[in-house]
Amino acid sequence: MSRIGLRSSHYGAVLIALAAAGWLTADEPGGRSLITFEADIAPILEARCVKCHGQDKTDGGLDLRRRFTILKGGDTGAAIVPGKPDESLIVRRIERGEMPPKDEGRLDERQRSLIRRWVAGGAPLANPRELPLDDAEAAHRVSETDRRFWSFQPPVRTPLPAVTGGDRVRTPIDAFLLARLEAAGLSFNPDASRDVLLRRLCLDLHGLPPTPNDLEQFLADDRADAYEQLVNRLLASPRYGERWARHWLDVAGYADSDGYLAADRPRPEAWRYRDYVIQAHNDDVPFDRFVSEQLAGDELSDWRRADELTPEMTRQLTATGFLRTALDPTYPGYTEPNEIHQVISDTMQIVGTTFLGLTIHCARCHSHKFDPISHRDYYSLQAFFLPALDPARWQPSEVRGIVMATDVQAARIREHNQKADERINYLNAALGDLVARFRKKRIADELVATRGAVDPALLEKLTEALAQPVEKRNAEHKSLVARHVPTLAVAEPDLAARYTDFKEEAERLRAAVAAEQALRRQPVVLRGLADLDDRPPTARLLIRGDYTKPGVTVETAVPEVLRNGDESVVISAGYKTTGRRLALARWLTEPSNPLTARVQVNRLWAHHFGRGLVPTLANFGRSGVAPSHPELLDWLAIEFVRSGWSIKAMHRLMVTSTAYRQTSAVDTAKLAADPDNVLLGVWQPRRVEGEVLRDSVLAVAGKLRDRMFGPATPVVAQSDGSVVTGDDDAGNRRSIYLLVRRSQHLTMFDLFDTPMMEVNCPQRNISTVPMQALVMLHGPFTERAAVALADRIQSATPGDDSTRIDFAWRLMFARSPRASETQLLLQSLAAIEQDHLAARGDAATDVDRIAARRAAWTQIALVLLNTNEFVYIH
Ligand code: HEC
Ligand code: HEC
Repeated sequence: MSRIGLRSSHYGAVLIALAAAGWLTADEPGGRSLITFEADIAPILEARCVKCHGQDKTDGGLDLRRRFTILKGGDTGAAIVPGKPDESLIVRRIERGEMPPKDEGRLDERQRSLIRRWVAGGAPLANPRELPLDDAEAAHRVSETDRRFWSFQPPVRTPLPAVTGGDRVRTPIDAFLLARLEAAGLSFNPDASRDVLLRRLCLDLHGLPPTPNDLEQFLADDRADAYEQLVNRLLASPRYGERWARHWLDVAGYADSDGYLAADRPRPEAWRYRDYVIQAHNDDVPFDRFVSEQLAGDELSDWRRADELTPEMTRQLTATGFLRTALDPTYPGYTEPNEIHQVISDTMQIVGTTFLGLTIHCARCHSHKFDPISHRDYYSLQAFFLPALDPARWQPSEVRGIVMATDVQAARIREHNQKADERINYLNAALGDLVARFRKKRIADELVATRGAVDPALLEKLTEALAQPVEKRNAEHKSLVARHVPTLAVAEPDLAARYTDFKEEAERLRAAVAAEQALRRQPVVLRGLADLDDRPPTARLLIRGDYTKPGVTVETAVPEVLRNGDESVVISAGYKTTGRRLALARWLTEPSNPLTARVQVNRLWAHHFGRGLVPTLANFGRSGVAPSHPELLDWLAIEFVRSGWSIKAMHRLMVTSTAYRQTSAVDTAKLAADPDNVLLGVWQPRRVEGEVLRDSVLAVAGKLRDRMFGPATPVVAQSDGSVVTGDDDAGNRRSIYLLVRRSQHLTMFDLFDTPMMEVNCPQRNISTVPMQALVMLHGPFTERAAVALADRIQSATPGDDSTRIDFAWRLMFARSPRASETQLLLQSLAAIEQDHLAARGDAATDVDRIAARRAAWTQIALVLLNTNEFVYIH
């Protein structure tokens, strides 16, 4: 009895304590009064929250289905602090009316109070062994539907479709395209003529028109595979790399300057990466290696511990310039966190659009609104790059770089320089002694001259005073000097002017110092990226992308929707490096990666055919456009990997297809059935890019220089605001070698859609604006080119104007003129010539006639440079 009484009174006390602490549900008198997660809270969350915070979606990174997931929390960290409702995010967001979001309707008074009191009471569970979530916890951010989206699934090889017009099928590409055309009652256009194909191929593969020689050679080649041979020749030429590297540099966002702030500082070493890209294309470096070198070239070899850098190591280190293209205004003394984080996020955007073809960067401030990429995914991916781009140990743009020396070489260089410095110090000391000695002598000489004798004590004092630079002399020094030797000059040049033996000895010492200085060794500092060491910093999610609001810590991980079981990425650290970027590169270049190969073949396709199979080249997500020919895209992606990731093999495949070889003639039936030419029943003509136009103009004018590689040719801003290059050997190099200054964009490029790099340019616009015609007709660049072109036409062909016109047509358009064109041109030449001579009247001399002739041809040349036929690929 007493025991029971004791018990009940004990219970009573506990109940009172619990009630005071708010653990009891007031409106549920007696019986079960403890608020537990399972009985009271889960149903509310299930009904009102879990659709956004659970199985299919985890907004804010928060899963509200279990107590442990609530404790773990979302982007901001733990969503409850048991016992402290006022510090619990969940309570705060609910009571402020923010959750559920307004249009979902607020929780009622009872629900709000239950949640507050549950937290206040320590957030208890009814069953201490909480139910696990159905699947691995991590698997909950992404639904099965998300995973099934086409671009997240590995490519599948489908058998080639059957077609009726089998004689038009040259490659599997043709089978896929023709099947769709036939289904729409259409077919390919007939093959284009050889001259058209030659010009098309040259502009496409080299970015330059064919020469009259090329034309002659190709037309005369009667081998059955003349076309394939031509393709091989073009792919083997160094001009190919110069053309296709440009496409890649767009994607990489290449520029030779840092960006907007201050003086848009130049990046003097950036060109080495540009040259790497050109050479890699010419060498047909397999694309998987190309990717790995650019993401992790510094982690591909143990270069720091090698005896010396091999050319291969140097190449791979240079490739990491890819990760240094982002606009970067930081410099020593200016490392604003804002700018630092912008550099990191721009780099992420470049990586995401280049290799994954996804707008990963949209998940920087909030989970992606269209694709299943969470806020956390973004920061998990960023974690691969943090060991190199660590905000806490930031290296400003011009300081960051890879010193091109192994540890052994660097130590040797240090030792070498130390010795040189010792000798320099010794020589400088000797020079100092010499100066001191002669200074004293000079003062003594002066004292003898002015007072006939030297007082040794005064000499010492004056020597000491004059040894000080004027601004360092104290009052006593000054008065001494003023009293005794007010006008005496004892600097080195004064002494040298007076004493030849001093002069000779000082010169000898100075020369020796300069010689030693020249012996000091300064290794190149590459504009590349390497980890700062093998200790990765802690990676945190930044809430809403705000660096002042770090959230939960994250581990390196690829976006969850692309994770394939647990295997995802395996990281192993190397010497002074974390190995993270290499692990990411390995994952990207796994043949099973659903995106890498697809994104790249699609890019190649778009350049050859004018439109991607996926038209949004850098967006393979839900907000991108679905592929027009999914089976063909998959077939190409698989073929790409099978070919050993050979880009040249893909070019061959694409340009030898019937689809590529057909004419561009428009036929009304096709236009009606397929107005956007999605089915590719017509070869789509297109205007050449700014660079190709410039290079073509220089080429036909005979001005183009073909020197490859090396530092960029400067561009010059003129007083009228236009930006040009010099008309000299350097200024007439191919466009890819011109300086890409973000603040000084070549006017010609500005007008013809060459991108100004803000981040990168995965896809160019093609615009047609009146300024283009104005600059092409009246600009100094085309005017100069027209003069050179006219002279070339006139001097290249002796004989009459008809043969000249013929030459001009072959040079500019890779074909012979039609009779009507020759006729028209002859008349125009005569008319312009007459105009010029009319002014001279009967007094016209032979010199006048020659000048009139030249003027006429110059005018014609300018018109030819402005024809659609020259500016378009047909
Ligand atoms: C219609 C969708 C939706 C519903 C329903 C919803 N939320 Fe949210 N919740 C969000 C979104 C979106 C965010 C992220 C943006 C933000 O923080 O405002 C978020 C964020 C949160 C966060 C902050 C997470 C963090 O770590 O930053 C908490 C806490 C939260 N919700 C609690 C709740 C609770 C509790 C409920 C139900 C009572 C609820 N939410 C219902 C959409 C929803
Ligand atoms: C620098 C931060 C930041 C980046 C980067 C960012 N957003 Fe947003 N976005 C916001 C903010 C802030 C809001 C408004 C609050 C919200 O809805 O989360 C918002 C809202 C939105 C909305 C409307 C909200 C809704 O639910 O209807 C869409 C759509 C959106 N963003 C799409 C994108 C896309 C697409 C990208 C990438 C191209 C992107 N955002 C990149 C900060 C960003």
